[in-house]
Amino acid sequence: NKSAKKRVRVYMDGCFDLMHYGHANALRQAKALGDELVVGVVSDEEIISNKGPPVLSMQERLALVSGLKWVDEVIPNAPYEITEDFMNRLFKEHKIDYIIHGDDPCLLPDGTDAYALAKKVGRYKQIKRTEGVSSTDIVGRILSCMKDAKSDKLFSESSGEVDNLNNTQSSKSQVNGGHISHFLPTSRRIVQFSNGKTGIRIIGAWAKFPSCYIDGAFDLFHAGHVEILKSAKQLGDFLLVGIYADHTVSELRGSHFPLMNLHERSLSVLACRYVDEVIIGAPWEVTKDMITTFNISLVVRGTISEKNPLMNGKSDPYVGSKEYGNFPNA
Ligand code: CTP
Repeated sequence: NKSAKKRVRVYMDGCFDLMHYGHANALRQAKALGDELVVGVVSDEEIISNKGPPVLSMQERLALVSGLKWVDEVIPNAPYEITEDFMNRLFKEHKIDYIIHGDDPCLLPDGTDAYALAKKVGRYKQIKRTEGVSSTDIVGRILSCMKDAKSDKLFSESSGEVDNLNNTQSSKSQVNGGHISHFLPTSRRIVQFSNGKTGIRIIGAWAKFPSCYIDGAFDLFHAGHVEILKSAKQLGDFLLVGIYADHTVSELRGSHFPLMNLHERSLSVLACRYVDEVIIGAPWEVTKDMITTFNISLVVRGTISEKNPLMNGKSDPYVGSKEYGNFPNA
């Protein structure tokens, strides 16, 4: 009897600080090794004693991990090391079959392997680490962006120039504030991120719009993004997300932005469980053509356009659309 076959449950843990598409890709691969994926999110205290303080809190990291479409269950405050006690808890309480980690060494402060025990009992599997991105790299991008912004300000003050964001647009914006992204987008990766548990129908009286559209920069994908995408998804059956092109984000926020390029931002949004489809490089204005082509029945927006000083004199992008929803910033 096939339906009675035991479902394979796999466990992956991690800090998932400043969550990026490398983490999402790790969890995607882990999920493919079983039927159900349980994710342990390492506690703030354990990260502090093993790696140094995380940027995001436990609550934020948990919200980000739970928002991924490959994740079935989360265990908050997981330990950094797979100890004997915790391993037994995973096997007995959580019915885990395999413990999974990326193929990079994960060492404890004393130099021993955090997964040694799981390997010893033959319950360990490995996935391929995604090159070209890490939390440390993202922190580097933020710092270099701040440094560039500061030196630009000094330059414009000393030369008496007016600091006009549109005029400072330069090649810098294409390299993420001086940090070149090593991400190589392939159609295969986009397809891998597109497949999975999408199109979840949320049943309720308000689920009345067949297709909703929401747009934004979605730079450095964070817990607030998960929240707004969840709210938008509740308004309809299908959620289409427009991700602004890099030059649009630079015009809106300044030449040092975005920190993550269009393809990196697209993968992060695609990995979110509430998203059905993305437009990679959406324009600022929602045109009548877009509404017709994509069959959009509701344009959902954040409250950003009323009070955002970074709009930089741009007009309301949503004038062409018939219906609005109103949510916090995208
Ligand atoms: N991971 C990955 N590719 C990356 C980054 C992380 O496959 N570019 C995997 C790790 O191997 C691990 C999981 O994602 O299995 C969680 O990683 P995490 O504990 O957050 O830490 P790091 O490996 O240190 O990742 P980062 O440096 O980005 O924080």
